[in-house]
This record gives sequence, C-alpha cells and structure tokens, in this order.
Amino acid sequence: MEILNETASSKISNTELVARINDLRIQKNAVILAHYYQVPEIQDLADFVGDSLQLSQQAAETKADIIVFAGVHFMAETAKILSPGKKVLIPDMNAGCSLADSCPPEAFKPFIDAHPGHKVVSYINCSAAIKTMSDVICTSSNAKAIVDSFLPDQPLIFAPDKNLGAYINSQTGRNMVLWDGACHVHNQLTDEKTIQLKLENPDAKLIAHPECRGPILVMADFIGSTSALLDFTKKDNAQRYIVATESGIIHQMKKASPNKEFIVVPSDETCNCNDCPFMKMNTLEKIYNSLNTEKPEILLDPLTIELAIKPILKMLDISKKANLIK
Ligand code: 13P
Ligand code: SF4
Repeated sequence: MEILNETASSKISNTELVARINDLRIQKNAVILAHYYQVPEIQDLADFVGDSLQLSQQAAETKADIIVFAGVHFMAETAKILSPGKKVLIPDMNAGCSLADSCPPEAFKPFIDAHPGHKVVSYINCSAAIKTMSDVICTSSNAKAIVDSFLPDQPLIFAPDKNLGAYINSQTGRNMVLWDGACHVHNQLTDEKTIQLKLENPDAKLIAHPECRGPILVMADFIGSTSALLDFTKKDNAQRYIVATESGIIHQMKKASPNKEFIVVPSDETCNCNDCPFMKMNTLEKIYNSLNTEKPEILLDPLTIELAIKPILKMLDISKKANLIK
C-alpha cells in the first residue's frame, strides 16, 4: 500500500492528490469533515466545512462508513462518540488542542468534588474523559442557550475555557465557577495590537471569537463562533473587518465576500496571521494516507462512549429546540 511521505508527495501536484482522495472516498464510502481553521485546500476538498456544533451534528447524522475528521483530536473523538459504529480517522494523531490539554481529568475530578451541588457545563474543546464528568456539553455557538437551560439558581461549573465562561457569565448574569483554562491561540492576542489595528483602520469593524480575553471582547463590534463571525461578515454592510480568531476562517470570508477586506489580529510580529499549530498539522498528503491506510483511527472504550454521549446528545437536543441547528 502506497504511503506518501514529504518527498513522495512533493512530486505529486495538489490536483493529483485531490483526485486520488476523491477516488478513495467514493470507493470507501467516506466523508471528509473539516473545521473552518483548516488550510484552504482542505476546506475546498471537504464534504462539509463548519464550526464545532455543525460538525458534531454532521458526524451524528452521516451515512458514510468512514469519517475523516480534518480538525483536532477532541473533534474526531466527539465524532466517534456520536457514531461509535463508524471508523473515525484523524489525519494526524498529534493534532491536539491546548485548551483541551489545560483540563486534565485527574485534576478536574477533585475540582468538581470541591463544588457540591454544581452541575457541570463543558465546552466541547475537552477530552472524552472530561465529557464523561459533564452534565452537558456546549460550543461557542450554543453556550448561552445551554447555560440558560438551567434554572437561574442552579450553581454551575464551566470548563475548560475561562474566557468563554466569563463572557457567558456577562451575558447571562450568572456567576459560574470557571476552570482556569484557555486556548493559547486566542489567549495570546494582545489588547495593544488590537487597539493599534483599530486606530490604523477606523472604518473596520472588530469581530472576535469568545475564546479571546475579556479586554478584546469589550472592544469588539461583534462576538461569535466561527460560523457566526462568517455569517456576520456576509450580512453586515461594512467593507473592512479586523478579525480576532484563527486565520483559517478568512478563506470562507473572502469566498463569500470577495470585495471585503479582512485583517487578522496577528499572534506576534513574525506574520500577519494567527494560526493554530494543531489545526495546521493536517495536510492533503496526510488525508490521502489516512484514507488509504485507514489509520490513525480514533478508538474509545465502550464505557467512555456510553457516558460521554449523554451530555453531547443533551447539547444537540437543546440546540435543536433553540433552533440553532435543524
Ligand atoms: P467554533 O468553530 O465552534 O467557533 O470553535 C472554535 C475553536 O476553537 C475550535 O477549536
Ligand atoms: Fe484548540 Fe485553540 Fe487550536 Fe481551537 S484554536 S483547536 S481551541 S488550540
């Protein structure tokens, strides 16, 4: 079986690689799901591109035998939990997530025990083990609706993203106990750089993902998940936007609004981008190899699946009732 390495794939054009991937996905009845933070060539190849909520719904409903998840580990794991009978492949098993890693299960268990009477709302960016300890999962698209589904006097723990948790506290008037975790990609965006870009581009609107720190969110004209940010730029009448999230989303923004300009809040002085190193581990070559070899595969024990699926299904149910998904 042919496995492409960097030298071999450098001799094959992207067009040829895409053609080979297309042959394999038909032959194997496979579906390729991609997050908005993937590189443009993967987004263009995917059967479905979306945010975390849309991708989990696709994973739950697909008729394919194989799911290739072009995203990060917790996303592929969620797909496996929702579709345990299917083979779920991730192009690079090392594509993790700093936010998920900021909440190890052995530390989270005593944290829950220290807050008796609290229900646990966990952001989908967490491991399967954390999901088994949660009452309900949320994404940035539905976090407010999920938190609002609890009675106002119900004490809540929110994990693992302290920035999203603080933002939802501000939107709901709650005082959820926050786990001290963050996404290093969003958390490193600085107020100074954002203010500088706003001063240099007074006509541009600042749009931000809620994983950003509070001072950036306070300055933002619009806050939302990747899909909400994309929708906003489609419908809004401004011509220029300062975008405080991972650079991958710009691909869809430009496709939808080719005459608009998008300025990424950069992570540092070395580039005009803000790339998630984990999301960017996936390549066309790795997608081809994973479809060809049917590896690396996400495997989970049945008890983890049984316990983790409940809070995810609860999330999908609340999201449907709130008309956030169909
Ligand atoms: P959403 O696409 O759900 O907004 O999530 C962003 C993210 O950080 C995924 O890792
Ligand atoms: Fe995780 Fe942040 Fe990368 Fe999303 S952008 S996968 S939260 S590290």
